[in-house]
Amino acid sequence: MVDLDRSPLFDCTGICLDLGGREILNDISLRVESGEVLGIIGPNGAGKTSLFEVLSGRIQARSGSIRFRGEAITDLKLYERARLGIGRTYQTPVVPDELTVGEVLKAARQAYKPYCTRHQAEWACELVHLDITMHLPAASLETLNRRKLLLACLLMRHCSMLLLDEPAAGMINSEVDEFDHLIRRLSKELNIGIAIVEHRLELLETIADSVMVIDAGQTIANGSLAEILHDPNVHEAYFENGSN
Ligand SMILES: Nc1ncnc2c1ncn2[C@@H]1O[C@H](COP(=O)(O)OP(=O)(O)OP(=O)(O)O)[C@@H](O)[C@H]1O
Ligand SMILES: [Mg+2]
Repeated sequence: MVDLDRSPLFDCTGICLDLGGREILNDISLRVESGEVLGIIGPNGAGKTSLFEVLSGRIQARSGSIRFRGEAITDLKLYERARLGIGRTYQTPVVPDELTVGEVLKAARQAYKPYCTRHQAEWACELVHLDITMHLPAASLETLNRRKLLLACLLMRHCSMLLLDEPAAGMINSEVDEFDHLIRRLSKELNIGIAIVEHRLELLETIADSVMVIDAGQTIANGSLAEILHDPNVHEAYFENGSN
């Protein structure tokens, strides 16, 4: 049972965001404990990626607060949050066209001081089972290895909170199974807190401890996947509007 008096690893309250003169997020709150996986679902355009933009520090919300280990991080920049151990992956796994896998890892090692050692990078590659030659152009990797490479770049710094935006997009079923094991290892063995936006409910079913549903910038349900699948509001917003 969650102890509400103790600070969670990561939480936000009352996040409101406007973009282009329109309200995108309205009063979003969430909390993630170490070792916990929070699934986030919602129709296309619901505001899931925008929420990660705010939580990772890429854009500032109009109002609301964000805390990491109980300390306010609302005013910290993206790189300052990264230094604290908050990692984020993007919906499209973009890797630099001109670099090899080894060069991408080196750039990540030297992204900011203190630099990571080669040993840390090797450890991260083993952790995600990235078993490919370092001389390959990074742009030649297919989706699963791209996503593993980008995750290794975060994990080499021993991040303790991950924001994963549709990490299984573009994967075939056997790859999703492998990814499922990886996410579970990160949360249950390394005790990393994970918030994961994902449309593939079969993945959330095995990894998510709880799920929140966002529709039109608002939270419309919270609970176990089984609970939210029985919620009539979720059905109407997520399954009956034809966007999923
Ligand atoms: N920079 C921006 N300026 C104006 N509107 C934006 C901007 N970025 C996103 N939006 C709008 O905010 C809303 C939420 O978009 P967002 O990308 O967060 O949705 P999402 O839930 O991640 O959708 P998807 O499932 O398609 O990835 C959309 O209506 C989108 O058009
Ligand atoms: Mg999105």
